[in-house]
Amino acid sequence: TERTFIAVKPDGVQRGIFPEILRRFQNKGFKLVGIKLTLANESLLREHYSDLQSKPFFPSLLSYMLSGPILATVWEGKDVVKQGRVLLGATNPLQSAPGTIRGDFALDMGRNIIHGSDSVESAEKEISLWFKKEELVEYKPTLHGWIYEVNLLTSGR
Ligand code: GTP
Ligand code: MG
Repeated sequence: TERTFIAVKPDGVQRGIFPEILRRFQNKGFKLVGIKLTLANESLLREHYSDLQSKPFFPSLLSYMLSGPILATVWEGKDVVKQGRVLLGATNPLQSAPGTIRGDFALDMGRNIIHGSDSVESAEKEISLWFKKEELVEYKPTLHGWIYEVNLLTSGR
C-alpha cells in the first residue's frame, strides 16, 4: 500500500500543534507506521529540498527547518500521498482553506507548520532519507474493515 512522509516542522512542534495533526491523519483512517522526534541536519535538508536549492528563500527555509525538533512520521493507506496534501492545505496560507492544517494554523509561508510528500516518488525518496528500514513498523490495523470496503462477513463478526 501507498505511504507518505509527513513532517511537523519546528513551529508545529513548538506551538504544540503536533497532537492535533496526528489526530487528523488518524481520524481520516490512515495508519501510522513510523514516528520520531528528530533534529535535522543541513545535509539531510539539502537532500530533502534538493528541488528548491536555487530559490531565493532557500537559506531561510534551511534555518527554519534547523530551528528546532521536527516530528517525522510515515503514514500508510489508500491514496495517502494526495489525501495528505489535501489535509495539509495549500503552501501559501492565503490559499489554504479553513479546515486544512495550514488553513487553520498558519499565516506565513515561511512558518507553515507541516510538510507532506508531493508524489509517490518523492514519498519513497523522503521516507528512505528520514527513516531506517527497521524504524518502520508492520502491523494489522484492527479497524481495517470499518475504514475500507471489504467483505465483513467473510472476515468474521
Ligand atoms: P512542503 O510540504 O514543505 O514541501 O511544502 P510544499 O510542497 O507545499 O511547498 P514547496 O515544496 O514548494 O516548498 C517547500 C517549503 O518552502 C514550503 O512549505 C515553505 O515553507 C517554503 N516556501 C516555498 N515557497 C516559498 C516562498 O515563496 N517564500 C518563503 N519564505 N518560503 C517558501
Ligand atoms: Mg514540497
